[in-house]
Amino acid sequence: MQIRGGLELSRRHLLIGGAASLAASHVAPAQAAASPSAPSGAPVMTRVSFDVNGKACALELDTRTTLLDALREHLHLTGTKKGCDHGQCGACTVIVDGRRINACLTLAVMHEGDEITTIEGLGKPDKMHPMQAAFVSHDGYQCGYCTPGQICSAVAVLDEVKAGIPSHATSDLNATPQLTNAELRERMSGNICRCGAYSNIAEAIAEVAGRSA
Ligand code: FES
Ligand code: FES
Repeated sequence: MQIRGGLELSRRHLLIGGAASLAASHVAPAQAAASPSAPSGAPVMTRVSFDVNGKACALELDTRTTLLDALREHLHLTGTKKGCDHGQCGACTVIVDGRRINACLTLAVMHEGDEITTIEGLGKPDKMHPMQAAFVSHDGYQCGYCTPGQICSAVAVLDEVKAGIPSHATSDLNATPQLTNAELRERMSGNICRCGAYSNIAEAIAEVAGRSA
């Protein structure tokens, strides 16, 4: 091949040159990652303060720490359980500023100033919350692993219904929520029980709600 300036390039030269620049473009990011200016991967620490079960807590945390790990590993409130750690089982449910959330799906640093209630804050063995007492009297558990999340969720469900908050499955958002058996089960559907204690759980919640399941 003849190009301007009299330089002659063969097809072979072009192919070798193209392959070399392709290889260079793939190597570049790896070299950049290894350069001294790249981030070291060291944790970024920050302070966060919130109220847990009525007690002010201040923690110095890696910003990647979930609320679940902050509660369990840093505050040693192990009543809140880690099931899937992916927002699928509800074992980690806690109540934050009156709303139930999955503690595994939220970072602790997002809760500056929040009021957090865990199963330990609802009641004590000698002075149980009515929902805890109902779970005991209705055998609303077998292994008990899902139970703290079920109870926190159930307490928040009754508050949601009282406040007139519609369930996700409701098509009429203006209708007053009724805690029918189906509605109760729908609202509790984010809390999985591998032991299958659902009927007893529903009976316990219905009793606290003042009706039979
Ligand atoms: Fe959070 Fe399963 S541990 S939803
Ligand atoms: Fe065992 Fe629910 S009681 S998972």
